[in-house]
Amino acid sequence: MCHRNNYKCYFIAVLLFLGFVILVLFINKETRAYAISEAEKNIEDALLTHRAIHSFVEEIQKPEIYRLKETGKLYPEYFAPEILSFTYIARTFKEFLNEERQKAGIDEIYFKLAASNPRNPVNRADETELELLRQLNAGELTELKKVYEKDGKKYLYYVKPINPNKDSCMRCHGDPLSAPDELLDMYGDKKGFHEDVGFIRAMVSIRIPLERWFDNAHKTTVVLSFISFCVLSALYLTIVMFMRRIDRQQLEIEKDYSLLEANARLREEVERITRHDLKSPLNAVINYPDLIQSEGNLTERQIKDLRVIKEAGLRVLNMINLSLDLYKMESGTYQFLPHDVNVITVLKNIEQEYAEILKRKKIRIRYFVDERDLMQNQILYIKGKELLFYCLLSNLIQNAIEASPEDGIITLSLTTGEETTITIHNSGTVPYEVKHTFFEKYATHGKKHGTGLGTYSAKLITETLGGHIAMDSAPEKGTTLTVSFPSAKKKEHNVSAHLSPTPL
Ligand code: HEC
Repeated sequence: MCHRNNYKCYFIAVLLFLGFVILVLFINKETRAYAISEAEKNIEDALLTHRAIHSFVEEIQKPEIYRLKETGKLYPEYFAPEILSFTYIARTFKEFLNEERQKAGIDEIYFKLAASNPRNPVNRADETELELLRQLNAGELTELKKVYEKDGKKYLYYVKPINPNKDSCMRCHGDPLSAPDELLDMYGDKKGFHEDVGFIRAMVSIRIPLERWFDNAHKTTVVLSFISFCVLSALYLTIVMFMRRIDRQQLEIEKDYSLLEANARLREEVERITRHDLKSPLNAVINYPDLIQSEGNLTERQIKDLRVIKEAGLRVLNMINLSLDLYKMESGTYQFLPHDVNVITVLKNIEQEYAEILKRKKIRIRYFVDERDLMQNQILYIKGKELLFYCLLSNLIQNAIEASPEDGIITLSLTTGEETTITIHNSGTVPYEVKHTFFEKYATHGKKHGTGLGTYSAKLITETLGGHIAMDSAPEKGTTLTVSFPSAKKKEHNVSAHLSPTPL
């Protein structure tokens, strides 16, 4: 079965089974209805034959006999039911027809002019027919068509009254004195006499055997049911197979997911331990310079070096703390209170930090604020968090320094307005293969010590600060990184309020 979706499979099985049962019932009903409609056609055919015989006797046979009598070729009292009684002729015709049917292996049809007061005893109504005749005469019934069982066999039973007695019928069905002598000789003066006008003396009684039709219907039902069963089973198997595939996929996804979860937990654990383990030795790096300085007796140079050591330690500590922040930014749980940060100071600090490598590669950094050279002690505030700006810009500048050829110029242009934009340009180019994955996690571009996290965290930080970041690189133009931040308040859009030289 389909394991996890078991109950769904059972449900579908039950549903399909119910559908199958309904279908079989429907097929059975329809095939039986078809069988009956075929039997009805036989009834109609028998009635039409009956009427045709009537027309033949009345319109062709009788006029000919009357002509013979009128021309004296036949004596006036001549009467022979074989030629002059429609009912006799019709009955005999049907008897022959049944014989032919029997020879041809077709079901015989019961057709009778059932009468309560028959002239010919073969026309005597049986008990059922007697009762129906009574009902017809009492006006309780006009016609009857129903499936009827006799001696364990099913028939379609049809009953229709013949026209009631008219004046013309009275000659042979009223007072025997008015009947032809030859009729009296043949049938006597009792049977089929003493009736009134308006009396329904007989009814057409037809029984079509249904067995053969029902057999066919049954066979059709079995075949159609079998086909439906096969189709529904195939459908069910297909569904089960489909569900099993879904099962397997679900399982795989769950496996993958739990693996990912375990990985994430492991990573967090490692990071937590690393942070903790790194922080303890860092305490010594941060605190010992103060201790050494308090001992006194140090040269200016030594004091300056100690400050460099302490600041480096603090920066590493910040970095460790930031790695935790990055994790929060990723999961969208990072929160901070923005305050005004002078980005120019941040940029200058970063330049100082990379002073040595800049000197080694003979790279110069040029600053522009709104397309003008940077003034002494100029300030430019952006709302955010200093550490985040530091980390972001240091990252981007480090990349620019690494990518820039020797003797190159890195241009830092700041633009104020609706947004505050910082562009960092160097003349190196980003390889084509990494252009589209530049800001993606773990996307390195052939750097020896690259973690692939630098640009990713730059994007993360920019977005956390409410800004956006873009990169453009072309062989002739070099590489430009642009970070833009919304300018905080309306009044701060005022450039002069934004940019003002710090009083000394
Ligand atoms: C000329 C005489 C004659 C007349 C008129 C006549 N019948 Fe008959 N009828 C007979 C005879 C004879 C039979 C018996 C024939 C046989 O052996 O089946 C008969 C039989 C029948 C039967 C078959 C049932 C039975 O009693 O055996 C019906 C029904 C019937 N007649 C109806 C009528 C009706 C209705 C009329 C008037 C429209 C009519 N007949 C007029 C002579 C006549």
